[in-house]
Amino acid sequence: MKKLSRYPVKKNDPLQAWDAADTLIENHLLSLEIAPNSRVLVLNDAYGALTVSALKVVPSPLITTYTDSYVSTTAIILNTEKKITPIHSLSGLQGSYDVVLMKLPGQLSYFEDLLCHLSHHLKSTSKIVFGGMIKYISKGHFQCIERIIGQTKTSLAQKKARLIFAEFTKGKTPSPYPTRVTIEGFDHPFSHASLLFSREKLDIGTRFFLQHLPQGNFKQILDLGCGNGLLGIAAKQLHPRADLIFADDSTMALQSASHNYTLFFNDQATFVWTNCFENQPPESVDLVLCNPPFHQKSGVTDHIAHQMFRDARAALRKNGLLRFIGNSHLRYAHELKKKFSSVTKVAQNPKFSIFDAIK
Ligand SMILES: C[S@@+](CC[C@H](N)C(=O)[O-])C[C@H]1O[C@@H](n2cnc3c(N)ncnc32)[C@H](O)[C@@H]1O
Repeated sequence: MKKLSRYPVKKNDPLQAWDAADTLIENHLLSLEIAPNSRVLVLNDAYGALTVSALKVVPSPLITTYTDSYVSTTAIILNTEKKITPIHSLSGLQGSYDVVLMKLPGQLSYFEDLLCHLSHHLKSTSKIVFGGMIKYISKGHFQCIERIIGQTKTSLAQKKARLIFAEFTKGKTPSPYPTRVTIEGFDHPFSHASLLFSREKLDIGTRFFLQHLPQGNFKQILDLGCGNGLLGIAAKQLHPRADLIFADDSTMALQSASHNYTLFFNDQATFVWTNCFENQPPESVDLVLCNPPFHQKSGVTDHIAHQMFRDARAALRKNGLLRFIGNSHLRYAHELKKKFSSVTKVAQNPKFSIFDAIK
């Protein structure tokens, strides 16, 4: 596979932008007989490996790539040298596709949502291939495919990866997402898209954070990595005159947060689709609330939390406050102390610690 970069691009990045499942999908694609006018759909490509493979068999106008993620979108544009700009709404799928390449997502609700939308854009001759690392392929993936698409066959495993092939024999299936979820202490049920963090109930870390929202005279509040927007919405209830900014890498998260905000308030909030809070106006907020992710594209990592610290610091005015929750076993305080003038622990339970970092 040609050298591809992850995003954000780092010099000598030890992490690769593709895995063995991407290579298996590419090898399979190159072995197929594909008519020159075939329309190819790529779903859930992490950094562009599958889209670059598709460019080896058909020209760019015949390729549609869908991803929910800003990081993936930016990496795909970079790695295809701007030949492909992904779509980030499933309503952008159009007509029927001859070839579908999909990297299996870990979250089954998201997978089900993707398949339901896909079922409106397939024909019986569509060639559909799913790929994933074996440790992330579950029985649920097979059940979803067999219920929504049709019978499955699998490839032999290679380098701990496997392909699943399916023929489209079912009909069009409506997606059950987004769903409505009642959260204790909130007057309106939240709308939750299929890819949302803690989609079915309140996450225990978020619950702990809600018990420790800061008091103060905050005029601009940023909910960084907002998910369904619950932390920002709760902060606005405490500080009704503050302006709220919600930021996330996920389109679905921002759509849910935006919908949820309008259930509670009549004024406008700002919704920013970005990686952490990069390239945003400096010194523009007084408070950042942050419950960062521990995973990126199936790898466990703390680099997103570290970039969130840097971006929160840049966004905060002097003496502004970052209130942050993290798993107690991870050493966040050390990292925070490198960037902020004072760092204190506000609360701790056996799993989580909450810190205040002042710029
Ligand atoms: C642990 S969840 C927190 C969600 C919500 N704030 C809460 O407390 O329930 C982390 C959020 O960070 C988002 N995220 C992951 N990677 C990101 C990135 N690189 N930039 C911005 N947001 C990201 C995820 O989409 C997810 O919504």
